[in-house]
Amino acid sequence: MKMKTARISLLFVLSIAILLGLANAANEPVLDMDGEEVQTGVEYFVVSAIWGAGGGGLAIGRSSNQKCPEIVVQRRSDLDNGIPVIFYNADSSDGIVRLDSDVNVEFVPIRDRLCLTSTVWALDNYDESMGKWWLTTGGVIGNPGPSTLKNWFKIDKFTSIGYQFSFCPSVCNSCVTLCNNITRDVDGDNQLRLALTKDQGWPWIFRKATSPIIKRVVNAN
Ligand SMILES: *[C@@H]1O[C@H](CO)[C@@H](O)[C@H](O)[C@H]1NC(C)=O
Repeated sequence: MKMKTARISLLFVLSIAILLGLANAANEPVLDMDGEEVQTGVEYFVVSAIWGAGGGGLAIGRSSNQKCPEIVVQRRSDLDNGIPVIFYNADSSDGIVRLDSDVNVEFVPIRDRLCLTSTVWALDNYDESMGKWWLTTGGVIGNPGPSTLKNWFKIDKFTSIGYQFSFCPSVCNSCVTLCNNITRDVDGDNQLRLALTKDQGWPWIFRKATSPIIKRVVNAN
């Protein structure tokens, strides 16, 4: 009887150790501005971590040659939080958004009935005239692999404050792909758009769409 109890508790200790080991293996969670873990399937505004001249939140925008809004822009006014996004993990069994992990990003799809293309972020084809890789929408959610490479983004800590996005997908081991941080840049229509950069990106913070907290983080730099 005693032997059995000992064996059960040993098993118990072992399973806890294994569980902890697994938990440690997963990347650190991304935190929202309330200090809570960012979750998949929940709406967040993505707003500039730099107060004032840093501008406002990310939103779906329309370039002058488009009929429907299909680009990723930053609203100019720092009082404008933009349109919320929803994150989806490549590892759909994990409900927490983690650093350096593949995610799909979708603007909450409130669409005109004539504009039904997807609001999921994707990397656009190279823009030769501007020499830029812009972000666009029209991506798909899930199905990680070579055919969906352009739809996967990552979130990393920015050096001073907040988080930056990058395009450096790990959903396909045998694929050759770009690996760059993402910043904001002015396009031919004078809109602020997300684009790949050879440098460091732009810092953002995540504000749960339902968060009562209005105050933003003020950059100390
Ligand atoms: C991305 O930014 C980080 C700093 O935030 C920098 O260390 C890294 O080299 C950058 N990556 C690229 C590909 O430029």
